[in-house]
Amino acid sequence: MIRFDILSIFPEMFQTPFGCSLIKKALDKQLIAVNIHDIRTFATDKHRMTDDYPFGGGGGMVMKVDPIARALDAVVPKRDKAHVILLTPQGETFKQTIAEELSFYDQIVLICGHYEGVDERIREHLVDREISIGDYVLTGGELPAMIIVDAVSRLVPDVLGNRDSALFDSHSTGILEGPHYTRPQEYRNWKVPDVILSGDHKKIDEWRRRKSLERTLERRPDLLEKADLSEEDIKILEEIKAENL
Ligand code: ADE
Repeated sequence: MIRFDILSIFPEMFQTPFGCSLIKKALDKQLIAVNIHDIRTFATDKHRMTDDYPFGGGGGMVMKVDPIARALDAVVPKRDKAHVILLTPQGETFKQTIAEELSFYDQIVLICGHYEGVDERIREHLVDREISIGDYVLTGGELPAMIIVDAVSRLVPDVLGNRDSALFDSHSTGILEGPHYTRPQEYRNWKVPDVILSGDHKKIDEWRRRKSLERTLERRPDLLEKADLSEEDIKILEEIKAENL
């Protein structure tokens, strides 16, 4: 079982997102565990301060090292088995490959940064890795922590039913998924492509691969540079490019 420990100054933010959908099921089935810790309870001064003014002046507040260090001491029983992550817009950008890597740890600790940032000693001495969920600035690391728990949990065996298999997800194969359709076959004169209804699975697979390549070329050509493509895929891509000249 993978265990997530989230260190936050707003623990109440996590109630709803983990209380529904597949994450709730995974928690109920004990395939994952999520513990939310209020950083404030680890502050020792009488006002339970988690932030303070920056040395040297300047705007904004800085998260203090002591409450976070003490929280880590309390929630990480075996430092070598845990992966401690700080959520910050300065971190490496979160990707499916990172989610896959994280899904192999026994314990993942997510520290939700706030304000102008955290005391540099947290970065230097307490965390293994810094992650950003994208090139934009949020009010804190709570939403990024939820995103990481979600993306990693769905890779844990048995969290997804067969019907939602992660194997062919966009990004996990290196390219985007093609279109999906369900009933009815025709809606407001919008028809499902004949090939999908043909029952010829070889043709359907070929069509899906082609659509997937077409979509990736159109929306995320950067992914094609790193994707694991067969010779057939490369031939199809050449055809698609020629058709669109
Ligand atoms: N905290 C604020 N913005 C963030 C981002 N984009 N990713 C991770 N943590 C953040």
